[in-house]
Amino acid sequence: MTDGVDNGKRRFLTIAATSGVAAVGAGFAAVPFIASWNPSARAKAAGAPVEADFSKLQPGQMMRVEWRGKPVWIVRRTDKNLKDLNSLTDSLRDPESAIKDQQPAYAVNEGRSIKPEYSILVGICTHLGCSPTYRPELAPADLGDKWVGGFFCPCHGSRFDLSGRVYKNVPAPTNLVVPPHMYLAETRVIIGVDEGAA
Ligand code: FES
Repeated sequence: MTDGVDNGKRRFLTIAATSGVAAVGAGFAAVPFIASWNPSARAKAAGAPVEADFSKLQPGQMMRVEWRGKPVWIVRRTDKNLKDLNSLTDSLRDPESAIKDQQPAYAVNEGRSIKPEYSILVGICTHLGCSPTYRPELAPADLGDKWVGGFFCPCHGSRFDLSGRVYKNVPAPTNLVVPPHMYLAETRVIIGVDEGAA
C-alpha cells in the first residue's frame, strides 16, 4: 500500500476513536460499523419476532422467511391438499400431534395451523437438521404414486406431509416444529410471539 492510503486509514481510525465509536480492527471498513447500528440487524441477532406478509402467495406456493437464523416456511395449501391430509393418518408417526414440544397448543389439529389454508413450519428436519425440500407435486416418480405433496429431506430420506407431520419408517423421529406465531391481518403474521393467538 502507498503511504497515502495508510495515512488515510490512520485518519479514519483517529476520527472514529474521538467520536466515541468502539475501536475496530484495521481490517474492518465502515460497512460493518454501519450494519451494527441497523435496528433490523440487531433485532435479528437477538432473535426478535419477524413479520411476514404473504398476500401474494398463490394456492400451492411456498415462501420462506428467516427467524432466529432458521428458515420458516409459509405454504398456502390448496383445497385438495387439505382433503388429502385426511387420507394420510395411517402412514404418519404422530398424526394427532401428540408430542407437545413440536407445536403450540393452537396448532394441535390436522393442519397444525391457526388457519387451515396456511401451514407455517420451521424448515429444519427433526432428524439431523438438514432443510427438507418442498415437493408439492402429486405422485412424482422419485416419491411414489401415493405422494400427495409434502416435504422431502434429501439428507437421509425423511418425509413429511404438508402439515409437517412425519411419515412412519423414516429417520426423523418427530413432526416438524410449528413456531409460535399469530396473525396481524388476513395474510400477515408475526413469527416468534403468540399472545392471544389461541
Ligand atoms: S437430516 Fe433429514 S433425514 Fe436426516
